[in-house]
Amino acid sequence: MILLNSGVGNYIFSNGKEYSYFGGNNYLGLANHPSVREAAIRAIEKYGVNFSASRHTTGTADIHLELEKELSAFKRKEDAVVFASGYQGNSILLEILKGRYSTIFADQSAHASIISAIPADVVKVMYYDHCDAGHLENLLEHNRDSDPLIITDGVFALTGEIAPLDEIWPVVKKYKGILVVDDAHSTGVLGNTGKGTPEHFKLLKEENIFQTETMSKALGGYGGFISGSNDLTELIRERSATYQASTALPPPIAAAGIASLKIINDNPDLRIQVIHKARMLRKEISGLGLETTHYDTPIIPIIFERAEKGKGLSSYLEDNGIIAPFMNYPVRQEMHLIRIAVCANHTSDQIEILLRLLKKWKDKNEKN
Ligand SMILES: Cc1ncc(COP(=O)(O)O)c(C=O)c1O
Repeated sequence: MILLNSGVGNYIFSNGKEYSYFGGNNYLGLANHPSVREAAIRAIEKYGVNFSASRHTTGTADIHLELEKELSAFKRKEDAVVFASGYQGNSILLEILKGRYSTIFADQSAHASIISAIPADVVKVMYYDHCDAGHLENLLEHNRDSDPLIITDGVFALTGEIAPLDEIWPVVKKYKGILVVDDAHSTGVLGNTGKGTPEHFKLLKEENIFQTETMSKALGGYGGFISGSNDLTELIRERSATYQASTALPPPIAAAGIASLKIINDNPDLRIQVIHKARMLRKEISGLGLETTHYDTPIIPIIFERAEKGKGLSSYLEDNGIIAPFMNYPVRQEMHLIRIAVCANHTSDQIEILLRLLKKWKDKNEKN
């Protein structure tokens, strides 16, 4: 684990040393953007650090409503609800969709927040092979008497794979199911306007696809949100215990969200830059003979058969001034990897130095 002595940007400080930073999820470089910082500071001056109450009781402020208005405009939905974390989003959604499903079918490598969101009283939970719409169909066919809810990450946090919604959704539709996509890593990045995987796959008009999203990654802030019809958001506000009984998003965080949405709306090039840089870097990494995945996302894994190799590479990079962490993360999967996260602001120098070191390491340690 590295210990930060600074905020995150292209570079970080850890234990008094500066590092070129390829960790985290700050894909658009907004976590420390001057106008996001200023908005947060102004909000602290006006409201203090915390509203110290749940949204449902006395913790809803004008700034939450403004953020929700901006989010619903960004998503082109009737409404949006914000809450304390992206992690909570899956619990909230599965909570309020109760009654519309009897069986949950989840990707076997689904994020921990999905697995822990599955309500205790759901009769049946099944896991389909990772990103395998064929296996999902098989399970659905053998469980025809169920009302299915299918749930997957939109972009997988560790591997940067995009869930094949173009294959999954027709299957879900065939079996009259509901699809829930955790788009934590897609919001602000995927789709022509950053609306995530449904936009990426041109499925925005489909009913019965629900997204859970976060402001903590590409948006550079913090807090979860769900957008949708007024009926959906009313259900969340009126029925979700998770929403009703947790403290409202703090003022500087709500203000940061509003500021970062403005930047995203005004600068579509940020999204283009991060995807472009990641595409080039991924191609070069693959060209070095290192195993990676092949998706247009900012997450580039380097995959190893043995954990020691991955740990060795991560330490080698760290010794040479670069953070690209070996991942020890609570998601079920059989691979060992270091995870490189590309940011729209990364300079060509940073990328070149990273590549040079990867090549040097690869030459020394020839086989994975
Ligand atoms: C797929 C996925 N869902 C949910 C979360 C939780 O989001 P947050 O950190 O905003 O609570 C994360 C990240 O940490 C994630 O990778």
